[in-house]
Amino acid sequence: MFDVYGKVALVTGGASGLGFLYVKELLRNGIKGVTIADTNDVFGERAIEEIKNEYGDEKAIFVNVDVSDKYQLEEAFKSTIQVFENIDIVINNAGILNDANWEKEIQVNLNGTVNGTLLAFDHYIATYKSGAEGAIINISSIGGLDAFATAPIYTASKFGIVGLGQAYGSKLHYERNNIKVVTVCPGFTLASLSDVVNHDSLLGTAYSKIMHKEYDSIPVQSPTFLAKSVISIIQQSEPGSVWVVEGEESPYEVEFPNRLLRKKKKQNL
Ligand SMILES: NC(=O)c1ccc[n+]([C@@H]2O[C@H](COP(=O)([O-])OP(=O)(O)OC[C@H]3O[C@@H](n4cnc5c(N)ncnc54)[C@H](O)[C@@H]3O)[C@@H](O)[C@H]2O)c1
Repeated sequence: MFDVYGKVALVTGGASGLGFLYVKELLRNGIKGVTIADTNDVFGERAIEEIKNEYGDEKAIFVNVDVSDKYQLEEAFKSTIQVFENIDIVINNAGILNDANWEKEIQVNLNGTVNGTLLAFDHYIATYKSGAEGAIINISSIGGLDAFATAPIYTASKFGIVGLGQAYGSKLHYERNNIKVVTVCPGFTLASLSDVVNHDSLLGTAYSKIMHKEYDSIPVQSPTFLAKSVISIIQQSEPGSVWVVEGEESPYEVEFPNRLLRKKKKQNL
């Protein structure tokens, strides 16, 4: 059991949406301090104000950084150490759904998560964790397991996050420095991303046309349910595990059979 009580966390994209709910849930579970790393000053300052009112001045800081720039993101890690002295948990949550601007989407979703994972795994959590173990939680999507025809590039970015987590979750890495890398794949969650899957964020009308056929049967869950589930996953998961949280069902772990077990029965060549 990895207890979040008394630990220090950094949450990317933590100023609003699901990220802010992870921040609040960490605070509710007795985190010592949390850094919100986000591009949005207005949301960042509002989030800090809300935290101050409920938990006092010492619990949270906001650092304006774009996760796709590793030097900017490193500033958030440095500020965390300056203020809270330790860092134990990183939630790489910042992400956008914008296939129309897919170069940016890949930079934020995939490069941003790689940046956060490398900074945390190779240096900051490894050096500054307060206990025996650290945790990196990378936020993918159910679209990182089952492709979204509607949003192929978003799918690619989220599949990439699943692969990253499995590679770093290998015990070959875990044994190096006791940091578990865990991936969470949320289903549709009414924070806002699912609300903003609009025509302008897709690759064109051909994609908009299939959106309802593909998405209408997918269940929607509340953000609070997801946030509580993510805290349970941080506390109870094994290194390298990949979790689905969808439709307000209990989170479940996904298996990845070895490629030989995935061989199709009928071979054509
Ligand atoms: N909402 C859903 O249904 C859903 C489902 C599956 C996965 N997800 C994933 O959860 C994460 C959060 O989604 P959300 O719905 O809360 O989105 P959101 O748009 O509500 O919030 C995203 C937050 O990230 C910040 N952000 C955006 N780009 C950034 C950047 N380059 N650097 C730093 N911060 C940045 C924004 O300012 C915002 O505060 C995303 O990775 C998303 O792909 C969401």
